[in-house]
Amino acid sequence: MTHQSWNASQYIDHAAFVAELGVPLVALLNPSRGEKILDLGCGDGTLTMKIAQTGASVHGVDASESMIAAAASRGLSAEVCSGESLNFNNQFDAVFSNAALHWMTDYQAVIGGVHRALKPNGRFVGELGGLGNIAALIDAMERVFAQHDDFGQFKNPWFFPSAEVYQAALEQGGFRVSHIETIERPTPLKTGVREWLKLFANSVTQALSQDQKACFHEETEALLKPVLYSEQEGWIADYVRLRFAAFKV
Ligand code: BEZ
Repeated sequence: MTHQSWNASQYIDHAAFVAELGVPLVALLNPSRGEKILDLGCGDGTLTMKIAQTGASVHGVDASESMIAAAASRGLSAEVCSGESLNFNNQFDAVFSNAALHWMTDYQAVIGGVHRALKPNGRFVGELGGLGNIAALIDAMERVFAQHDDFGQFKNPWFFPSAEVYQAALEQGGFRVSHIETIERPTPLKTGVREWLKLFANSVTQALSQDQKACFHEETEALLKPVLYSEQEGWIADYVRLRFAAFKV
């Protein structure tokens, strides 16, 4: 996985929409009292909390220490762990994951770890960026890198699969897929694209100096303004989601 350092308070200020828009996925999970559920990539625990409120017993894992500290401060059971090296065996009724799997580029390792973590017939319910997600954002970032030799090579840290590729990976990993859909979901960025870049493209710019980062943010925003901004609606990011439910066979 590409290194991504998260700051939980910055996340709350500029990315509260991630959990808000994840509520329909909790409905698809349909947790019930007494179930044991793993929240994979739980972030600051906003959705973990919602799942726990149903009476399910939820454990959160996330690769970020800052996020796990925020989740634990809400009284949630949570630990730092990369999704690519899950070490649970036959112990969860369901694994849930919202807006995290696209950071885990070794997706076969993730699917294998989820399969091991589930009890027989356990379910894996998730949503990640799908094929074409943030295409305009990525295009602008690539173009800015191409204009600055001193920035080095642009490296795309995300995995945005098509429904066909992800369904095949789930089936090869021992799951039966009951639901999979790609959803175009233009997403308002209330605090603007520059804050989005600072938070979500932090791994893209990690080797840059402060001056280079400032230049990257300014030029990327300028390229995107005609594409993603309007006076009426403000900034709208070109999100595409891939939502699925699958059962361990
Ligand atoms: C997403 O949720 O689609 C996403 C978040 C951060 C970076 C890229 C994509």
